[in-house]
Amino acid sequence: MTESTLDSTSRTESSTDPTPSTEASDSPAMETSESRTETSESPGIASPGIASPGIASPGGASETTTGESEETVQDEWTRYDFEGAPKISVEDLDVFYGDDHALKGVSMDVPENSVTALVGPSGCGKSTFLRCLNRMNDRINAATVEGSVELDGDEIYQDGVNLVELRKRVGMVFQAPNPFPKSIRDNIAYGPRKHGDINDGLLDKLLGRADEDKEDEIVERSLKQAALWEEVSDRLDDNALGLSGGQQQRLCIGRCLAVDPEVILMDEPASALDPIATAKIEDLIDDLSEDYTVVIVTHNMQQAARISDQTAVFLTGGDLVEYGETDQIFENPNSQRVEDYITGKFG
Ligand SMILES: Nc1ncnc2c1ncn2[C@@H]1O[C@H](COP(=O)(O)OP(=O)(O)O)[C@@H](O)[C@H]1O
Ligand SMILES: [Mg+2]
Repeated sequence: MTESTLDSTSRTESSTDPTPSTEASDSPAMETSESRTETSESPGIASPGIASPGIASPGGASETTTGESEETVQDEWTRYDFEGAPKISVEDLDVFYGDDHALKGVSMDVPENSVTALVGPSGCGKSTFLRCLNRMNDRINAATVEGSVELDGDEIYQDGVNLVELRKRVGMVFQAPNPFPKSIRDNIAYGPRKHGDINDGLLDKLLGRADEDKEDEIVERSLKQAALWEEVSDRLDDNALGLSGGQQQRLCIGRCLAVDPEVILMDEPASALDPIATAKIEDLIDDLSEDYTVVIVTHNMQQAARISDQTAVFLTGGDLVEYGETDQIFENPNSQRVEDYITGKFG
């Protein structure tokens, strides 16, 4: 975690995860140094009603962005009680990029078959957190991950974890739709063929054991689940790049569903889409949450309020500041900074 020189290399490397280029300009380091001077005059009025600053989380008062009031994050703001065992359990998660501490001691449990929204200003670590949940950060050389992430009670950061299998169980959909330049059918069948769920090789064809019916079934099932079937059923062999942006994104969701995942991670999946395409994706996410655990990053507060069951608010510096039922977060947050953020006072 000292090789900060690797940062620039890894940025290029992580281009499979399209992050808007604007992000590069608002470095949190710049934000925090500004805010220290601006907010330091009123430390006394922080977190009214909170009994003792002594019970604050380790690290004390958080760094704040310009426009944020100063406050000490309380552990109970991120404690979210729900029924049932967590699908994902994150404990003391830290991520460093070289010397940059991008995510600081994040702990949170994600309930099964629900939608969890991750919100917060650009650069606060949302994508970094999401990538930890299926070990996509392993692909970034400069990234060091410490802490624990359990999936159904099993540690995913232990030796011997099969990453292909993990990413099959925990699928990911990115900000910009990224279909393969292949047919609609091939996009959906890609995963099942790769994982051996469909026999499709030349030998299979010669020996007459190609699973054509099974492939048709998976393609139809996945496209129906992705709410795209009716629009494309008569042109499955057309190139996927001929679809509209919204259709391409639903295709990517269908591609993810084709391998029967348990968790679907989505990083701002609708931010490149028009309002109608966005509404379709939101409806789809709502349907999916009956059978899948969806974790979604969004910068759109209305979207988070509309589609999620619980919301986690990350603020500058890589802190998880508050996590709880979505209604509580939006209507009655504990943190003044969270309230300021969701009402648009900064960020
Ligand atoms: N591959 C990378 N290499 C170096 N620093 C990175 C990389 N990815 C993200 N960062 C840094 O980590 C911090 C959190 O980034 P990110 O997780 O992308 O935030 P968000 O998704 O909330 O905008 C930022 O300071 C960002 O510059
Ligand atoms: Mg991001």
